[in-house]
Amino acid sequence: MEQKKIIIDTDPGHDDAIAILLALASPELDVLGVTCVAGNVPLHHTARNALLICELANRPDVKVFAGCDRPMVRKLVTAEAIHGETGLDGPKWEQPKIELQEQHAVDWLIETLMEADDGEITLCPVGPLTNISMALVREPQIATKVDQIVSMGGGYFVGGNVTPAAEFNIYVDPHAADVVYRSGIPIVAMPLDVTHKALMTEEWIQSLQDLGTEVGTKSSQLLSFYNRFDLERYGMAGSPVHDPATIAYLINPDLYTGKDVYVEIETRSSLTMGMTVVDYWGARRKDPNCLWVSAVDDTGFFELMYERLSTL
Ligand code: BDR
Ligand code: CA
Repeated sequence: MEQKKIIIDTDPGHDDAIAILLALASPELDVLGVTCVAGNVPLHHTARNALLICELANRPDVKVFAGCDRPMVRKLVTAEAIHGETGLDGPKWEQPKIELQEQHAVDWLIETLMEADDGEITLCPVGPLTNISMALVREPQIATKVDQIVSMGGGYFVGGNVTPAAEFNIYVDPHAADVVYRSGIPIVAMPLDVTHKALMTEEWIQSLQDLGTEVGTKSSQLLSFYNRFDLERYGMAGSPVHDPATIAYLINPDLYTGKDVYVEIETRSSLTMGMTVVDYWGARRKDPNCLWVSAVDDTGFFELMYERLSTL
């Protein structure tokens, strides 16, 4: 089987952790590296958390890099209310035995992409887009090396989750998102519009616990902790598990439906800062820069995650 080469850029984060586990459990994907960024919690936590998750997946060979510790322009905004002080609150964690790579994530991204053939690598950012945009600013030639960017971020039909207008990943670094959306690289956006249609129930969390494996137990502890915030806030039947949508799309795009649209990022207004302004009806007659995903086969998504996590 020809594997798709991917780089996961992440700020773990509970749903980031599940995304990494899903990728590492999937033979269709070759995870070249995991690059970490400040987002849900500060960088020293996100980098440590990425190491913990690779270790949990029994994949000490995966290279993990620390990247930018703050957004390009704005002050860092974090999300401890959702992910806890460490970013992976819930289970008990030991110190990771595997170590971070010494190279800065942005340097490694540039080096790896410049050595690749055109369109060889897929980027999977599931946190603020700071690392990806810094790499694009420093070496614009990397753009041709990227097949596509499959990214969790934004919201249009359901609005925002950190402000009425903005989703967290875009809000934290809107200037970075602006660079990425103007880069000309094909983007697949997994916004709140689709992630809010795949709600993780208590039954599903229990089924992970029932696997009786370390991955099953830790994942269910993580997701129980994560679930409490969304259940209180949204009063839904379960919480949206955002980031694995990107990986599930790469494994089976038929699970998802979207529309090619032109998206711009709001970087000026304080009221709507970080809004993904989606020209859903083509009012501005611009060429699309993004596949905006808004529907999912949620049963298929959860079955895929369960099936794959059970192999770890
Ligand atoms: C996004 O924000 C983070 O809290 C999650 O990890 C996800 O990437 C959802 O808005
Ligand atoms: Ca994330």
